Amino acid sequence: MSGTAVNLGLLRDYIEYGHAADSFLDDVLEGLSQTQKKLSSKYFYDERGSKLFDDICELPEYYPTRTETGLLRTYAAEFAELIGANASVVEFGSGSSTKVRILLDALESPAAYIPVDISREHLLESSKSLASAYPDLPVVPIAADYTRPFHLPDILGEATRVGFFPGSTIGNFSRDAAVEFLRTAASDLGADNGLLIGVDLRKDVGVLHAAYNDVAGITAAFNINVLRRVNRELGGNFDLDAFTHDARWVADQSRIEMHLVSERDQEVWVDGKCFVFAAGESIHTEDSHKYGIEEFHTLAAKAGWCSIRHWTDTEDLFSLHYLRVA
Ligand code: AVI
Repeated sequence: MSGTAVNLGLLRDYIEYGHAADSFLDDVLEGLSQTQKKLSSKYFYDERGSKLFDDICELPEYYPTRTETGLLRTYAAEFAELIGANASVVEFGSGSSTKVRILLDALESPAAYIPVDISREHLLESSKSLASAYPDLPVVPIAADYTRPFHLPDILGEATRVGFFPGSTIGNFSRDAAVEFLRTAASDLGADNGLLIGVDLRKDVGVLHAAYNDVAGITAAFNINVLRRVNRELGGNFDLDAFTHDARWVADQSRIEMHLVSERDQEVWVDGKCFVFAAGESIHTEDSHKYGIEEFHTLAAKAGWCSIRHWTDTEDLFSLHYLRVA
């Protein structure tokens, strides 16, 4: 019996940074011990969570993905001109590596693709499929929490590097953490290199509310999944039916906050520690900040980036920015 040959192009061995696995338990115990209980949104993305996020991106209410994809398609030639030939593309939080294909298709002779993602299985699957679609492009996956320091592979040499950070994931960071991330990215990418980044814009609250409380309940399932993950990986005993998804606009922080609200008084155990919930008490699981254009430029400048050009859709829902290390 002969197997089906899979062309993996120039897919290289992945590089792994172990920091994600080390800190999950500590982060959960610390987060649940606070007065406002918290779990970091970076833990949403196990295999199931990554799949649910892909489903969110297809929802009619979730405008960011289709709007950003439209901008990427419309302005691809402009990005290619700004970035130049022979650039290596480093994608932070690469997920399914879908949008980057639009950029890779537009670039002149891209030198390599380096997807960086916390979810190793998803990263490896996506890298395989990208490498087989681009057989001449070296692909070097890095399994890492890209908010923590990691080194870019030597294969990049002195070639131009461009960072790609779509989806407005920057909005999931606090403002301070966003500056910190941008500062680290500037030093990883090096002087004169660029970053193409998607940033969701402030808008009508009804549009935002619908996007994070979809009628099909996919965002709710995505939110609850983090508790399932704590149960499975850390031996927790969360009753998944006893928490409800809640996404609310917090105007003075210009952000959507996601919470999981306890439906009753209850105790939950994780790793031999007991956490007490009153009815109505929540676990804060995600922030999704929405920016104005000028506000984002000021934030990027604090981190050492110059704004070269930006693009928005006709409804001003979403923005893309090309930044250069100052
Ligand atoms: C990944 N990130 C930009 C998404 C967002 O919109 O903040 C995550 C998400 N949360 C709920 N829906 C989508």
